[in-house]
Amino acid sequence: MTNPLKFINLTDTHVIGGDRLLYGANPARRLARAVDSIISDHADAAFVVVTGDMTHWGDADAYDAFAREIHRLPMPVHLMVGNHDDGVAFAATFPDAPRDPAGFVQFTFDTPHHKAICIDTKKQGTHAGAYCAERLSWLKQQLEQSEEPVLLFMHHPPFPVGIKAMDNIMMQDADVFHAVIEPHKHRIQHLFFGHVHRAIFGNWRGVSFSCMRGLNHQVALDLNPEANNVPGDLAQPAYGVVLLSDDLVVAHMFEFAEASPRFSLGAPEGVDNVSYQLNMRHEGFTDL
Ligand SMILES: [Fe+2]
Repeated sequence: MTNPLKFINLTDTHVIGGDRLLYGANPARRLARAVDSIISDHADAAFVVVTGDMTHWGDADAYDAFAREIHRLPMPVHLMVGNHDDGVAFAATFPDAPRDPAGFVQFTFDTPHHKAICIDTKKQGTHAGAYCAERLSWLKQQLEQSEEPVLLFMHHPPFPVGIKAMDNIMMQDADVFHAVIEPHKHRIQHLFFGHVHRAIFGNWRGVSFSCMRGLNHQVALDLNPEANNVPGDLAQPAYGVVLLSDDLVVAHMFEFAEASPRFSLGAPEGVDNVSYQLNMRHEGFTDL
């Protein structure tokens, strides 16, 4: 069996300019830490996909701060927009970023086993996602052009995840979107999305999906159907480390800034395994 191809799924970096805090955390510094981590731990990754919300307010300073860090990555980076991004400011900082003929930030690229399709679900003036007829026709064309297995990347999920305030701003055109992908579903190996700032895994009408945490603020688990505000917390930031073969997609969530103790689960040669496990202690670590 050949080695799987590795890639990184980074999402919802929400960078702001001026080295300022956002909800008490520093998104630019967190992105710098993530980039350091990718360079030191996953320099063998073939590419990085950023599934939207690169910046929080879509301003030029924020894109500059985002670009400074992203440009340190040694592998190709595929940038997608989310509801917090601004198409004009994004284009000013990344003039070579690919777009479809109508100007939407959607594009494809090839991996050894898959065609990756990155779609633009942003609608100006709202945090909810949209997918208009023009974008659908581009997607239909991409899906019909080949018979390769497909990886689908999008910012907004086309389904509710059970957190009311986020479900209100999911992709609003889910059924027409589904109608376009339906004839090709057997080839869609996985759907990656962002937007929800949580680790979420599941299956939508036969398509497996995953969402990774963002890098700054996260969305807390609050399944109260009456809740109107987006619940937030500062759970550890993370990015996805994805292993890809011709018949397998494995998505790991990597908490790159986590400082918990690391150790071997097996005792060293010559040491009793049970006493190794029972007597292990970690300086500075207090259990629950
Ligand atoms: Fe976001």
